[in-house]
Amino acid sequence: RQFSRLTSMAAVVALVAGAGFATRPGPSSRHEHAPLVAANVGEPTKRFTLTASIARDGAWAFNGQVPGPELAVTVGDVLEVTLRNKDISRGVTLHWHGYDVPNDQDGVPGVTQDAVMPGGEFVYRFRADQAGTYWYHTHSASDIGVRKGLYGVLVVRPTSITGVDVTVPVHTLGNVLLPSPTVGTVAPGTPVRLRLINTDSTTHRYAVTGGPFRVAAIDGRDLDDPSPVRDKALLLPAGGRYDVTLVAPAALHVDGRAVWSSSPSLSASPSPSWPVLDPLSYGAPSPVPWSRFDRSFTLVLDRGLDLRGLLPRYAHTVNGAADPDIPVQVVRRGEVVRFTIVNRSLVVHPWHLHGHHVLVLSRDGKAATGSPLWLDSFDVLPGEVWEVAFVADNPGMWANHCHNLPHADAGMMLHLAYA
Ligand code: C2O
Ligand code: CU
Repeated sequence: RQFSRLTSMAAVVALVAGAGFATRPGPSSRHEHAPLVAANVGEPTKRFTLTASIARDGAWAFNGQVPGPELAVTVGDVLEVTLRNKDISRGVTLHWHGYDVPNDQDGVPGVTQDAVMPGGEFVYRFRADQAGTYWYHTHSASDIGVRKGLYGVLVVRPTSITGVDVTVPVHTLGNVLLPSPTVGTVAPGTPVRLRLINTDSTTHRYAVTGGPFRVAAIDGRDLDDPSPVRDKALLLPAGGRYDVTLVAPAALHVDGRAVWSSSPSLSASPSPSWPVLDPLSYGAPSPVPWSRFDRSFTLVLDRGLDLRGLLPRYAHTVNGAADPDIPVQVVRRGEVVRFTIVNRSLVVHPWHLHGHHVLVLSRDGKAATGSPLWLDSFDVLPGEVWEVAFVADNPGMWANHCHNLPHADAGMMLHLAYA
């Protein structure tokens, strides 16, 4: 399966090159000369080793734990992460979800590197210059691998922080919410930043109770002038992150996935039936920086029958085709690209483009009126149309897919290439 994807990808690149586009090293040539250590970005200042293995309880773990170790760095660090695979027969890679790395660090097997097989290793290196909340996960058999536990937090903190700054990854195994490690107790008046991370394949609803809070950032990008809100629920799409800031009004105990105190407290679920904060109308607006688009694509998400295997099965399709048969979308460096994403199916598709953040223009015909919203993960609900745009400023071959990982596995995955 992986091999066939690789050959089809190589064929696409040949096609693109043959069609008179400027040639660039395609994944196949990069594949042959796959570097063990990435391009020199300077001496690493933070080194980590993540070893994937099957834990005693059957989970797939990095360094024996689920979630894997939190990789915490500071803006300006050069990160070096050595990935080793002890015994995961499906192979392992590291994808830095939401962190816009150079393409050869993106961790997509068959596209930017080979999967690391048992006994193998791969060294990732990149500069941490995008402050924010991210996560990492395997992209090899990612449907199974992430569900079994091969994921963890990546947080890039600014050089100075005040107060308490904690990450709160939420993931379900079966229907048990996995707790993150205990952090401690904070005094009243302490500024708190909670980094909420949805590592699941479905939407999670959060409630911050007992006091006002702000949503300071979404998907690793600060919002402009977010006002305090209270009694609002937050809906995090699969893969999405919200940074919530608040001042602890009473003794606040930060423990596991929940922040316990008389008030405020955070719970992932169940939550009161409060109105959901709409990020498209939150924060100070500023005009869309582009008046025209160099290229526009439409992605129609639907369901179809896949007749290629021995038995027919349902596929999740984009423009009537399923991976690996969805044509690659080709852009040129510097272009402003618009995507119109139409969900004609009956289920939610959390969309995720690698290597870029997209600016939300409109959702279901309603223009975004809040702070410019730069996302890497967003829920396209049944019947909805989203219009988003981005600058093609990160050359390479990028995955563009539904982050409900079983959907991606069942066809809802395509690629963006630079000519
Ligand atoms: Cu979070 Cu293509 O992945
Ligand atoms: Cu989907």
